[in-house]
Amino acid sequence: MTKRDFLSMEAWGRDGVERLLAEAARLKQAGTRGGLEGKVCALVFMDPSLRTRASMETAMFLHGGHAVILEPGKTSWTLETRPGVVMDGGTTEHIIEAARVLGRYADAVGIRVFPRGDQWAEARLDPILHDFARYCEKPVINLESTRRHPCQGLADALTLREHLGDTKGKRCVVQWTWHPKQLPTAVPASGAIAAAMMGMEVVIARPEGWALDPDDTATIRALCAEHGQQLIETDDPAAALDGADAVYVKAWGSVGLFGRPEEEAKAKAHLRDWRYTPAWQARTRGGAAKVLHCLPVRRNVEIDDAVLDGPHAVVIDEAENRLHVQRALLLDLIGGRTA
Ligand code: CP
Repeated sequence: MTKRDFLSMEAWGRDGVERLLAEAARLKQAGTRGGLEGKVCALVFMDPSLRTRASMETAMFLHGGHAVILEPGKTSWTLETRPGVVMDGGTTEHIIEAARVLGRYADAVGIRVFPRGDQWAEARLDPILHDFARYCEKPVINLESTRRHPCQGLADALTLREHLGDTKGKRCVVQWTWHPKQLPTAVPASGAIAAAMMGMEVVIARPEGWALDPDDTATIRALCAEHGQQLIETDDPAAALDGADAVYVKAWGSVGLFGRPEEEAKAKAHLRDWRYTPAWQARTRGGAAKVLHCLPVRRNVEIDDAVLDGPHAVVIDEAENRLHVQRALLLDLIGGRTA
């Protein structure tokens, strides 16, 4: 039997995503427990996390299962990820064995791995995630990779639906902000995909040079078109916010300057005023657009206190929804409820 991975939302299609969202909403309302008794989910964190780790571990616990947490290079062996390499350096174990072994212990395996290296042409292929999924014989869950953060995307979709009701035709702005670091593009891509799959008009507001990978832009555009909506890209944040029903605020790095953080820092030095302020919020529909952010957020760098602590920020609901969508995902993948 072919195993089912969860590497992106779009790979599950509209029906698959709708099924997960409906189940997540039901679980949230009903407080359902059980369904994963005797099940194990191994979670490999090659990069840090607060929400993803805590919510996955909590989801397994609430439904009677168990989570095994592994932190390569900290409390478990350093992992080699390059194919065909002579392992005479600092790494101890190859992901080929790690993925195979964990697949023998666990019913599902989650992996978080941010971009490595300095070549976007290689990193954009998400080789570590896909190699891990290839070698692991059990379902693999993407806990954030170079290109996608689908568990976040599911939570974003549930949050948009909860706060906007019928999302069809409403405007979601994915709003770039300045940040001192060069961050991955997985979250803005997944957030835009989530909004597009919810039938929203998607606006990506970012400076010239910070467009998403062209394949991601094409994917978002195609998903918008499926609902008769459009994707708009602009470098004018104020204009983008006019009529916005939701604003997904997020910093991300330039794929053109990938792996060159010092160059990127210079290129964006004049963009510090790309910060989500009360004045920007006032441009949205009735000044009342819902404000999303995946967290962690840098206060007064990405979003001002007055917005984060104000009535329109839904970031804590969004973080809570990580738990509910992952409960639905785990029950679907390993709970034996869905064929
Ligand atoms: N949003 C999110 O994935 O949070 P963490 O990085 O803390 O897991």
